[in-house]
Order: sequence, then structure tokens, then C-alpha cells
Amino acid sequence: MQKVNCNIEFEEYRYDELNAEDRELIDRAVRFGKNAYAPYSHFKVGAALKLENGEVIGGCNQENAAYPSGLCAERVALFSAATQYPDITPVAMAIVGCRDGKPTEEPLSPCGACLQVIHETELRYKRPVSLFLYGKERIIKVTSVRSLLPFAFDAKNMNK
Ligand code: THU
Repeated sequence: MQKVNCNIEFEEYRYDELNAEDRELIDRAVRFGKNAYAPYSHFKVGAALKLENGEVIGGCNQENAAYPSGLCAERVALFSAATQYPDITPVAMAIVGCRDGKPTEEPLSPCGACLQVIHETELRYKRPVSLFLYGKERIIKVTSVRSLLPFAFDAKNMNK
């Protein structure tokens, strides 16, 4: 038996420490989140996905009375970008969760399913996606989803 440590690297910022471009991506995520359809959880999430050409694609959570039929903000943005701009590489995503119209104090991490889709996106476009997880107290930045999903599943696990 061997115990192995896995360190993850991330950066923490206050909003005013970020550069204007990153602040703008977070602001866009806040605005997209206002369009969320969340009558069941009352938790509205916005995602702003920046592409290599500067285009920003939005996503917000879409819930359903048949709960599993809904979709998270992050996957709405990722799948929408892949539909509209399949050949343009995604480079960064900001994610903001809001309750009662106010962003959460602590950063919101994508759920496991969204981490998996971000991972596949990184493989597909052969480029890491920076993630900005917004909280009023602090903003966490990781330069790849691999920091949050070190044992990601992918086609290699199927010996492909
Ligand atoms: N949700 C997201 O859209 N993104 C996340 O990162 C976490 C959770 C949504 C799903 C559901 O509509 C609501 O937030 C409560 O879980």
C-alpha cells in the first residue's frame, strides 16, 4: 500500500484584483444568470464561456418538473458554443450562482457532470479552459478543469 498526495493549484482573487477582461466575463455570467429558469431550486446560475475569437456564449440553468431533465448553466453554455461555433476553441468560463438575486459569498464549483463535460471540451480542442468560480468573498481561478477533476474519465479509460 502506498499513500499518495494530490495537490491542486488554484489562485484566489478579490474582484478588484482581476483584470478588466476577467471582470467583464464575470459580469456577463451574472447577467446570463438572471435569465435562469429555476422555479424549483430558486438557485440561479450563470455561465459565460469565452472563445478564442473573443465571442462570449452564455448559459443559465434550465430546470424541469421532471428534475433530471433540467440542465446546469455550464453545460447550456458549452453545448450552445459547440453548436454555434464548433470550430472555435473555448478558453475561459466564469460561473456565478445567485440566491434571492444575490451572488453567493463562496465560489460555486461546477457539478461533477459539468466538470466531465469541461474535461471533454479540453480534450476536444486540445486546450485547457480557465475557470473563474465567483464568490463575493473570493474568486477562485484554475487554469484547467484537471485541477478539480484529477481522475477524469475519458476515452482512454475505454482503451480507445
Ligand atoms: N446548477 C448549475 O447550473 N450549475 C452548477 O454549477 C451547480 C448547480 C444548477 C442546477 C439546478 O438547477 C440548481 O443549480 C440547483 O442545483
